[in-house]
Amino acid sequence: MSDNLFAVVRTVADLRRQVSAWRQAGARVALVPTMGALHDGHLSLVNLARSKADRVVASVFVNPTQFAPHEDFDAYPRDEARDGALLAEVGCDLLYAPPVAEMYAAGFSTTVTVAGVSEPLDGQARPTHFAGVATVVTKLLLQCGPDVAVFGEKDYQQLQVIKRLAADLDIPVEVVGAPTARAADGLALSSRNAYLTPAERQAAPALARAL
Ligand code: PAF
Repeated sequence: MSDNLFAVVRTVADLRRQVSAWRQAGARVALVPTMGALHDGHLSLVNLARSKADRVVASVFVNPTQFAPHEDFDAYPRDEARDGALLAEVGCDLLYAPPVAEMYAAGFSTTVTVAGVSEPLDGQARPTHFAGVATVVTKLLLQCGPDVAVFGEKDYQQLQVIKRLAADLDIPVEVVGAPTARAADGLALSSRNAYLTPAERQAAPALARAL
C-alpha cells in the first residue's frame, strides 16, 4: 500500500485499533520489534518486513526486564525523534512506542522462560536476559497480532528463542530472520557499537574475519 501516513501510537488500545482497521481492509501486517537507536541494520529489517506485508509496524521500547541491574539500561541510547524520522523515510507505517507503565502495569507478575535454547552461550553470561526478551516479545506479538515479525540474525540465539516461544505458545505469526547488516570493514551493525573506543572499534572487525 502506498498511502504512507506515518503515525506514532503509545497504547495497546491504539495499536490494536490501527492494526484491526488494516486487517479489515485486507492488509497483511508485519511487526519489527526494536529498542530504538536505529541504524541501517534495523532499517534493513523494515525493508524486509515491507517485502512481506502491506503494512509495517516498528516498536521502539527499551525493555527494562532484559537488562540485569549492573547493565546499561539507563545509558542505552534513546532518540525517538530521530528513530521516527528514519522509520518514516523507509516506508514504515506506524511506530509503537509505549511507556514502561503501558508494557508493565502495576502488579505485573508473569514471565515467559524458554528452556533449552535460552540456556547456553549468552544465557550463561546473562542469566535473566532471555526471559526478559521472551516476555516482552510475547507481549508485543499479542499486542500487535502481526502476520509476520522480523528479527535480525545478528542476535541468532535470540531469534531461536523467539521462534521457539511462538511455536510453543501457538502464536499465529511467521517469525522471519533477516541477514546481519555490516559496516564496510565487516563489523556487524549494532546500537552498542557506539560504546566502542576508537581502538576497540578498529579491533572489532577481527571477529567477522575470524568467522
Ligand atoms: O533485539 C532487540 O532489540 C530486543 O532484544 C527486542 C527483540 C526488541 C526485545 O526487546
